[in-house]
Amino acid sequence: MDLRGVILAGGKGSRLGDLTKVTNKHLLPVGPYPMVYHPLKKMTGIGIEDILLVSGTEHMGDFVELLGSGKDHRCQLTYRVQDEAGGIAQALSLAEGFSNGARSLVILGDNIFEDQLNDFIQEANRFPDCAFVMLKQVHDPQRYGVAEMQDGKILSIEEKPKAPKSDFAVAGIYLYPPDVFTVIKTLRPSKRGELEITDVNQHYLKVGRLRYQSFQGYWTDAGTFESLGVANKLVTANPPAF
Ligand code: G1P
Repeated sequence: MDLRGVILAGGKGSRLGDLTKVTNKHLLPVGPYPMVYHPLKKMTGIGIEDILLVSGTEHMGDFVELLGSGKDHRCQLTYRVQDEAGGIAQALSLAEGFSNGARSLVILGDNIFEDQLNDFIQEANRFPDCAFVMLKQVHDPQRYGVAEMQDGKILSIEEKPKAPKSDFAVAGIYLYPPDVFTVIKTLRPSKRGELEITDVNQHYLKVGRLRYQSFQGYWTDAGTFESLGVANKLVTANPPAF
């Protein structure tokens, strides 16, 4: 398959207090698995065999100890260190050599969702030049990237807007064509000093190459006490499809 998987599993996890004092957020339990198994299984479930995991220096050893070569998960894992937290787009830029001209399916390691990604990939395969985002209606859109839509098209995307134009959150599941790395090189850091994935998506929107799909089943992040609790409840009540 001309599609590579990129799991972004860095960050300090500071919103989780002492839970992440000695470990990485993505190693905390969600249902019966360490959190990172969820994005990994979503990828292997649709036949992706080459997967890159990006994390900081502090806990990379733990990821390697947990996942090894990927053999037990029927995939081949590559690891890349993000020296400093510089944002999601900066972390993704580290995948350039790995992706090597293929498209990249990118999942933020703390995004937990029910649906399999088969339909998403099938749709994306019809438009190989387009970037794809996944959307989900939420009650607290100001916490996320927010997409405004009309007639099946995205009109705007804003990162954590104070006055959201819709209640559709942009989930941390993205599919990018190979030129995403060229796009990232044109970005400037945001006010919070990060290269924002929303700026990447806005670029594809501007050039008419951004499309979306919506989740049918549940979706949540798991980066706060509240959402980690929600993720555990959802996964226990309705195990996700891999
Ligand atoms: C990031 C993205 C945001 C997206 C969210 C999904 O936010 O910047 O656009 O909606 O992930 O989990 P973060 O949680 O890193 O603040």
